[in-house]
Amino acid sequence: MKNSYYITTPIYYVNDVPHIGHAYTTLSCDIIARFKRLDDFDVFFLTGTDEHGQKVEMAAKNKNIEPFDFVDEVSKNFKNLLNCMNFSSDDFIRTTEKRHIDSCQKIWKKLIDNGHIYLGKYSGWYAVRDEAFFLESEIIDGKAPSGAPVEWVEEPSYFFDLSKWQNKLLSFYEENKSFISPASRRNEVISFVKGGLKDLSVSRTSFSWGVKVPNDDNHIMYVWLDALTNYLSACNYSEGKNQESFAKFWPADIHMVGKDIIRFHAVYWPAFLMAANLPLPKKIFAHGWWTNEGNKISKSLGNVINPFELVEKYGVDQVRYFLMREVPFGNDGDFSNSQLINRVNSDLANSYGNLFQRVVSMICKNCNEVVPLKPNNYKNEDLFLINSIKNSMDDYRYLIDNQKFDQYLKNIWITIGNANKYVDEQAPWSLKTSDFSRMEDVLYNLLETIRQISILLQPFMPDTSKTILDHIKVEHQDRHFTSINKMYQGGITITKPTPMFPRIV
Ligand code: MSP
Repeated sequence: MKNSYYITTPIYYVNDVPHIGHAYTTLSCDIIARFKRLDDFDVFFLTGTDEHGQKVEMAAKNKNIEPFDFVDEVSKNFKNLLNCMNFSSDDFIRTTEKRHIDSCQKIWKKLIDNGHIYLGKYSGWYAVRDEAFFLESEIIDGKAPSGAPVEWVEEPSYFFDLSKWQNKLLSFYEENKSFISPASRRNEVISFVKGGLKDLSVSRTSFSWGVKVPNDDNHIMYVWLDALTNYLSACNYSEGKNQESFAKFWPADIHMVGKDIIRFHAVYWPAFLMAANLPLPKKIFAHGWWTNEGNKISKSLGNVINPFELVEKYGVDQVRYFLMREVPFGNDGDFSNSQLINRVNSDLANSYGNLFQRVVSMICKNCNEVVPLKPNNYKNEDLFLINSIKNSMDDYRYLIDNQKFDQYLKNIWITIGNANKYVDEQAPWSLKTSDFSRMEDVLYNLLETIRQISILLQPFMPDTSKTILDHIKVEHQDRHFTSINKMYQGGITITKPTPMFPRIV
């Protein structure tokens, strides 16, 4: 039986249209999911939309639409982003679905039964933009630490006994060193928890757009308890009879999040789960934020980067490559059009695209469009080239398991560079007259290297890899990672290539 692998994106607020930040989080998950599938895991890749809470209710009100109609409309934009960015998610959860509401009520009952929720009264600050409560001591110049406006809230509320979980959380972080990654985020969370935890308000009474608290219709659940529970809902937590999927996929292998929502995932969520006697996810990874040409991205500044426009302008694989190559995952990064264009022209058009173009053209021209047969013997420089990826598969696995996407791409580009150098040094155009059979061996070795590179690049650039693998006629069942070790079948007829990555002027 295959090993299972469960990966999630945050579920996105539907108060707004998707932007580059949403595309970025989901892209990182898509790459891991695709890699794991090619590496023979049974993958469950979940994304979706966060449709309750005051923020969404207000956005609907501003448009004079009923919240339910509003969320129906806006969540479509997030579904469209999946196609646009070529995301391969297995399920799309919406928090207004019955399977999710049932699962929220189930976990609530469990928390009540286990004695971790009690009724009280909340009075304090609330930031609708962050959907978060703040202590007086956290307010800076009348605002939340994120800069979001806050309002004073006084209302009856149920509380979760978060204060009791401080030591258990700290021991859990200690025993599970990679639970919170990268390390800088881990330190940040640990010092927050060491600072002491207050019981958390987990219901609201002043508005109604949310999941009803079981047995108390006046309250709706706090939107973060509702939202986090999506990770359970999607693998059938609420369905008593049909729990194979829950047994198979829970706990999740990784929840991917942005750095702004680490506290909810690395503090509240494990505390809720422990209190409900449920196993904890294996890892929370918090990535950094993009700025736009040096400026914070915000609607009021009018500099929001629209992923649909970006893909339209530059192409989907170009955008996927740039976002993952430009910035070490976990760090903040600055988006700039000129950098994107540089990367596309130098890494994609000049290096990878050019390698494919030259090699296939030479085969067409010199070998009558037939790929030479596998060589009978190899020189050291041939083995160096054709074995470099084969011998490094465990390194690539390590890089994916540690979210080092930029390094993965850098390593592949070293092989691409070596292949281009091999073309120059072996000079197949002069071998054509001096040693035809050596020319055939050289061209075979190059195509074999292109085959391996394209298999390994599938998670990052699925369309390009498919075009290349189709072009050189690699069968579908041979695109799996175990096939890296199978040598390329020579003797196949191929056609002249068209440029893979047109240069952007
Ligand atoms: N609804 C919550 C998540 C609930 S998960 C149980 C939420 N949604 S969100 O739509 O506001 O944000 C989703 C993701 O987008 C977050 O991971 C956030 O970090 C990411 N980004 C938002 N702006 C971003 C950038 N400028 N750059 C990179 N990612 C950013 O939070």
